[in-house]
Amino acid sequence: VNKGTQPVNDKIENLAPHTADSTGEFMTTNTGLKINDDQNSLKAGDRGATLLEDFILREKITHFDHERIPERVVHARGSGAHGVFKVYESQSALTKALFLNDTAAETPVFVRFSTVAGSKGSTDLARDVRGFAVRFYTQEGNFDLVGNNMPVFFIQDAIKFPDLIHAVKPEPDNEIPQAASAHDTFWDFISLTPESSHMIMWAMSDRALPRSYRMMEGFGVHTFRFVNAEGVASFVKFHWKPLLGVHAVAWDEAQNISGKDPDFHRRDLWNAIDSGAFPEWELGVQIVPEEDEFKFEFDLLDPTKLIPEELVPVQLIGKMTLNRNPDNFFAETEQVAFHLGHIVPGIDFSNDPLLQGRLFSYTDTQLTRLGGPNFQEIPINRPIVPVHNNQRDGFMRQTINKGKTSYSPNAISGNDPRQAKEAEGGFVSYPERISASKVRARSKSFFDHFSQARLFFNSQSEPEKNHITDALSFELGKVKTVAIRERMLVVLAQIDKGLAAAVAYALGIHIPENLAEQLNQNIPADGDPADYASLQ
Ligand code: HEM
Repeated sequence: VNKGTQPVNDKIENLAPHTADSTGEFMTTNTGLKINDDQNSLKAGDRGATLLEDFILREKITHFDHERIPERVVHARGSGAHGVFKVYESQSALTKALFLNDTAAETPVFVRFSTVAGSKGSTDLARDVRGFAVRFYTQEGNFDLVGNNMPVFFIQDAIKFPDLIHAVKPEPDNEIPQAASAHDTFWDFISLTPESSHMIMWAMSDRALPRSYRMMEGFGVHTFRFVNAEGVASFVKFHWKPLLGVHAVAWDEAQNISGKDPDFHRRDLWNAIDSGAFPEWELGVQIVPEEDEFKFEFDLLDPTKLIPEELVPVQLIGKMTLNRNPDNFFAETEQVAFHLGHIVPGIDFSNDPLLQGRLFSYTDTQLTRLGGPNFQEIPINRPIVPVHNNQRDGFMRQTINKGKTSYSPNAISGNDPRQAKEAEGGFVSYPERISASKVRARSKSFFDHFSQARLFFNSQSEPEKNHITDALSFELGKVKTVAIRERMLVVLAQIDKGLAAAVAYALGIHIPENLAEQLNQNIPADGDPADYASLQ
């Protein structure tokens, strides 16, 4: 191990002019005036009062007063690291993305791992999904793979995201509980949202208690598209496989660690990188040719479904190594603004309705979180390639754009930037054929909510199944409203009757006697839109 080394890459060099080191320097005000005394305010006599004139006092306190920015509306607590990515072999048959074609290229990356529900100061070991967001600083611009450590999601349509988050976040009257899903509003929502069944199985499993950020898988969740230079597209699911393997802690360990060291994951990642034990992941892809889109029992556009690896194996195409800690948490980890709309030629979206809504949400929230339209100029967000367009001005603009004009077409200065043809690297959206009526609807092909939940439960070993049973018993045990517990038992019975019975036993309640009736009337039977509608 190379203790103490700080590997450099193109992005680190690109950040360098923005870094500051005060070693051996004089202290100055923000206008460069050398400060003679920073520890005593200017007073009328030794005993005051303090003078309004004291611009040094005012500047110092004013800046301090404005040091905080809003935390992320979700994924508020996180840890970041720099690193590099290398592709093993050219993937040009699948995608024209240069960073996946050029085996000589070392693409700089910045990664942020996070919990979802807790606030910025919450514990790392909460039972929760973990964010796994990777930015590739490529020669064609930034590509962000904004994923999680679980391959599916709670909901199928982005329009439900505010509901999900309002349900999982602390309750609005007393802001309790912090960083925990064990409360009435969460389970009320989940019990009324059968599409969450598969994700709930993952969230109640050991996957929600990772031993370390270094020992988690990552998933792009949605189906994306690869497009090659000939314009041939295929569907792709992205995976990250940790070289250290996947490891979890047990629930009682998690609670112990949370009490003793709420920074457990943050510290573990920092120390590993600091001591040269660089964490590594292989990037995997599952590829489905366009013509096989309808070959599966589930819909590829449904983010509550995964593609079983027995059906489509994961091909490992490259490796990411995290080899450098950030210099400054706020400047890098806090100000990084990921967005799955940051793509490069050769990668494109699918019509997954969760993905489509996310494409709006990230930039929108960052406009508030990072204070206006110029957050792409923050050093950690700048691409390593130059930026030229006609966007101008706004709060905190850094770039000094030269010239008289900022519009196209333009015959006055002729210095407006040119649009790139596809052959020159210009991004062209995949010309998918669409012929459809405009409807506010959910596809019937999204209606099987239980098969994959069952598949996941059955894939678990006996101890892992016991952990899921214990987790559900603990979580539902904190739910005060008996009707919510009962409704969840009805949902669980659709996944696995033994599981539902074991949880009911632990809770000391019965699965409601009119279960059969409820199954038919309240919980949508697989694939029946009428039942689904009645539940809404
Ligand atoms: C933040 C993943 C669904 C809105 C994040 C982050 C991750 C992530 C990893 C943290 C980014 C960071 O470290 O800065 C996912 C995944 C989803 C999903 C994998 C589903 C598959 C959604 C949906 C919406 C949404 C449906 C909204 C419609 C947000 C917002 C943030 C966020 C607003 C905060 C971004 C910021 O302040 O910079 N998400 N998310 N997410 N996500 Fe998602």
